[in-house]
Amino acid sequence: MLAVRRIRPDEGPVLRATRLAALADAPGESTTTLARAQAHDDDHWTSSAAANASGPLQATFFAEADEAERAEPIGLVGAYANRSGVVNLVGLWSAPGYRDIGVATALIDAVAAWAVSGGHTRLRLWVVERNEYARRFYEQAGFSSTGTSMPYEPDPRISQVEMVLEL
Ligand SMILES: CC(C)(COP(=O)(O)OP(=O)(O)OC[C@H]1O[C@@H](n2cnc3c(N)ncnc32)[C@H](O)[C@@H]1OP(=O)(O)O)[C@@H](O)C(=O)NCCC(=O)NCCS
Repeated sequence: MLAVRRIRPDEGPVLRATRLAALADAPGESTTTLARAQAHDDDHWTSSAAANASGPLQATFFAEADEAERAEPIGLVGAYANRSGVVNLVGLWSAPGYRDIGVATALIDAVAAWAVSGGHTRLRLWVVERNEYARRFYEQAGFSSTGTSMPYEPDPRISQVEMVLEL
């Protein structure tokens, strides 16, 4: 069974472990690198969990399987709102072994519901151009490319493209 829930304020260690697992599994798909994430101290993860656990400005969601099957989260997404009503979606990841069963779709649905309840009107993300699988996935989820691209900061030779979904 799949369940999605918002992070709890005391889950800094879970956030760290899940983020590092995502970055180790899919290097080059996120806005940061594994080395940079590993360099953060415990305070970083503690305050990040607390900041994302409540309120309309930023949120992190975990996807979970039955605890008997796997205690660690099987998916993760982060979101933060701009003043203009746009919610940026970052770090979407589902764990290998739990793909193509709707984990990422459920995470996006959770972000969309949270965004709407906060009065936001649009989801936005950046995806590296060569990640055709993710781009197709986002299109199926209703996102469309805006035509805007920019260099991917950890490796500026790579381009990333902007996609949006009106809520
Ligand atoms: C891209 C990524 C997030 C997709 O995650 P996922 O959990 O496999 O996605 P979903 O299962 O929700 O959707 C994948 C496919 O399964 C299908 N699906 C969704 N729910 C389903 C269900 N209940 N049963 C069967 N299939 C389902 C979807 O329709 C989709 O197929 P489609 O793309 O042909 O429409 C995942 O591959 C990943 O983590 N990749 C590495 C990191 C990455 O690239 N992240 C994106 C950074 S921008």
